Amino acid sequence: MDHDLAGILVDEQAIADRVRELGARLAADLERDLARDAALGASSDADDFGRVVMIPVMTGAIVFVADLIRAMPMRLSLRLVAVSSYPGASVQSKGAKLAAEIPGDLAGKHVVVVDDILDSGQTLGLVHELIAAQKPASLRFCVLLRKPDRVRRRAVDVQYVGFEIPDEFVVGYGLDFDGHYRNVPHIATLRHEVVERVRRRAARA
Ligand code: IMP
Ligand code: MG
Repeated sequence: MDHDLAGILVDEQAIADRVRELGARLAADLERDLARDAALGASSDADDFGRVVMIPVMTGAIVFVADLIRAMPMRLSLRLVAVSSYPGASVQSKGAKLAAEIPGDLAGKHVVVVDDILDSGQTLGLVHELIAAQKPASLRFCVLLRKPDRVRRRAVDVQYVGFEIPDEFVVGYGLDFDGHYRNVPHIATLRHEVVERVRRRAARA
């Protein structure tokens, strides 16, 4: 598998360090919200159960969220949303589509949507629309990677970003190409020949 990679953009150790920082920041910000709720009488400590909901966008956020929540020492629950935008062997967004029903009971909750990467913004734009309509107490977005603004077609306010990367197609740490390479522990680029080979195979299928 390593032979398929052209280069490493962010290595395993750098990811681990940054994810720990993001988790600590998120936890501190959420604890502040919960303390404010309690001060306003909106909830007591016992009611903190179920108030913080982490929502990874499947499937790309699966590795990131697993590490991120372990860097957040607080009560939280996990709910999933599934959005697809890169069908098969494609390296360009085809527009976001909901692939499963979105959780419908987020009113009054502190919600954190977690995704692998912010590219065109169509995925998180759609998720934002559907969750904001439920009137959560707060709504945050956290991504491991962000591509440059000029490729963005839909504006989303993402407050927690791991790394800014160039406008290149990357794999690893949950990100895939045609379903593969999610288990690469780094953020890496693929060799051109590999991309072409997978594309030819997909075209024949
Ligand atoms: P957006 O809707 O264009 O912002 O794209 C976001 C989704 O597309 C992410 O959740 C990823 O799953 C996928 N994606 C975007 N860029 C890449 C990439 O470079 N490699 C792999 N997947 C990507
Ligand atoms: Mg995704």
